[in-house]
Amino acid sequence: MIAETKHAWAEEAWHQALKKTQQNSLRIGAGFPHASRGGQYVLEQPFWWTAGFWPGQLWLLYNDSRDESLRALAEQCEEQLDQVLNEYVRLDHDLGFMWTLTSVASYKLLGNEVSRIRALKAANYLAARFNLKGSYIRAWNPWYEGEDNRGYAIIDCAMNMPLLFWAAEVTGDPRYRHIAEAHMDTVVKHFIRPDGSVYHIVRFDPESGEFIEGIGGQGYAPESAWSRGTAWAIYGLALAYHHTGKTEYLHTAQKVAHFFLARLPEDHVPHWDFRAAGEARNFRDSSAGACAASGLLLLADKLGELEAPVYREPAVRILESLYRNYGTWDNEAEEGLILHGTSNYPAGTNIDVPLIYGDFFYVEGLARLTGKGPYYWE
Ligand code: GLY
Repeated sequence: MIAETKHAWAEEAWHQALKKTQQNSLRIGAGFPHASRGGQYVLEQPFWWTAGFWPGQLWLLYNDSRDESLRALAEQCEEQLDQVLNEYVRLDHDLGFMWTLTSVASYKLLGNEVSRIRALKAANYLAARFNLKGSYIRAWNPWYEGEDNRGYAIIDCAMNMPLLFWAAEVTGDPRYRHIAEAHMDTVVKHFIRPDGSVYHIVRFDPESGEFIEGIGGQGYAPESAWSRGTAWAIYGLALAYHHTGKTEYLHTAQKVAHFFLARLPEDHVPHWDFRAAGEARNFRDSSAGACAASGLLLLADKLGELEAPVYREPAVRILESLYRNYGTWDNEAEEGLILHGTSNYPAGTNIDVPLIYGDFFYVEGLARLTGKGPYYWE
């Protein structure tokens, strides 16, 4: 009875998301939206880490609607990413986000061989970022002349590991999986605190591999709890469990989920940092809520009937709140699907705005609730 009621609103939400995405596609086309300002998504260059989310959203909605115009735009986005792959210099660990939601998606849905090769090239570049001594995937190249970030790894990268798991599965070559597991073991060991909260950045000595420190990054402070990073950890660990069956990943995902769920406010959508203080406390991050909800639904699917509701029910509450309280269905002047995302509070960028990854995970969460897979990370 309860499940039927939930599905009724989720189907309605799915159709609203489809309608709005179709409308947005007329202006955005095969562009690369990131954050919405003044009601319109600002389009980024294809090398920006967010380049996969719009095509990923198009693929999710195409797969159910069979609206060929959405497929065509997703394919055009993927083609534009070739330039980024070939130029090489701007690539970082977000190869996973970018090529999982474009080329892996295209390969999974249509069996496109060119897409398979693109995704394998991306997986090779990602694997090559592995630091053997520290057992971590290096996050970025220097952002400015002389910066030394060789020892930086970030929690977001947990969501990039599915590209390596996928490469291991399609090639039969376990090296990709070994690297992904080694990185995820480092996540468990060095990123997750005893209380289930998560560091955004961890710095290692790139020569010896020794742990040096946890860094606040996009969170409020080094020992705070950035909510999107917490969501990346929940979903990334659940996916690592899905691909490997290692119970340590499952139990760690549960531990981080308990930290996340225990700190949600009344409307179930997290503040941008669970430990932000003062004025900073005013802002939510709807993208963290959406990402966590999709991850929690996967986690629930991995558990038996006694434990699954612990994760499934709050995931439904998050998605329903995003639909009812954050959705823009009656606002034609806003392209974003859900309001109140926070991209980078410490840098003062894109605060309290719709974010394309919020939209993507919201749509993916609805797809999970209404049984509209496949999901490209799995
Ligand atoms: N991966 C960067 C972010 O979550 O904002």
